[in-house]
Amino acid sequence: MNEIKRNKVVLVGNGAVGSSYAFSVLNQGVCDELFMIDLNEERVLGDVMDLNHGMLYAPSPIKIKAGTYKDCRDADIVVICAGAAQKPGETRLDLVGKNIKIFKSIIEEIMASGFDGIFLVASNPVDILTYATWKFSGLPKNRVIGSGTILDTARFRYLLSEEFDVAPSSVHANIIGEHGDTELAVWSGANIAGISLKHLLEKHPEKQGRMEEIDIDVRDAAYKIIKAKGATYYGVAMGLMRITKAILSNQDVVLTVSAYLEGEYGQSDVYIGVPAVINRNGIRQIVESPLSEDEQEKFNHSVKVLKETQKPFFE
Ligand code: LAC
Repeated sequence: MNEIKRNKVVLVGNGAVGSSYAFSVLNQGVCDELFMIDLNEERVLGDVMDLNHGMLYAPSPIKIKAGTYKDCRDADIVVICAGAAQKPGETRLDLVGKNIKIFKSIIEEIMASGFDGIFLVASNPVDILTYATWKFSGLPKNRVIGSGTILDTARFRYLLSEEFDVAPSSVHANIIGEHGDTELAVWSGANIAGISLKHLLEKHPEKQGRMEEIDIDVRDAAYKIIKAKGATYYGVAMGLMRITKAILSNQDVVLTVSAYLEGEYGQSDVYIGVPAVINRNGIRQIVESPLSEDEQEKFNHSVKVLKETQKPFFE
């Protein structure tokens, strides 16, 4: 009988984000096998047991096991959540030196297994670490994806949905650029159920002030959450699960992920958050949204900050 193709995911880094991702994958029945790798092997064993004990109530059974880098060989996706996380007052870019070193050894171990699937990177600074993963692995750019602004866009759409009293799924508005302080909202393309935000704000000018607040609330959300509870993990885990589902179910859905530019948006040789069509092969194509002059200027600045930050590590 033909062997049934089983969707296999390997998670590297079982901290707050990694374990939340594992929990969301179990709850959504996203794959058939999930192997979990972390330096803290005891915590992995505890999490694997804990997750398996909830299997009865999951939509479909998943084989969840403690793994080693050898398990990456036939993985469809390797999700990397490993590395140092932001502390209160730290920017994501402050983590670059520490985490690039960690990534170099992780990617070498994964590639030594014979891995030839898709990388999904979540560790920060995610755009630069996705660029590093692409460089260190030698895999084609479409199979190296960063979580990018998948969470920022979710924050943006949630806050707009609250303001206009509709479900976030009826709000179409993106955050692009660095997943960080230079990210920007594409206000010019934002619409709710197909009605442009511009038109809605002409009808409800009293909402303009809240729009300016939302712009700041989205960009600074992580700082507030980290101050309140020490780290962020549920939102980004849901975003990672969404990208995983888009890949494994071959959805051709547009998500704002960190993708490698080769001329799109007038920029090249950088990984940065942009809308992209995601399917079984990873990034099928980058979607070039028309930007206002101000949005293009902010995007160019975001690219410049990322390129200046990463340059010393790849010279
Ligand atoms: C945040 C982390 C994932 O924005 O960078 O919550």
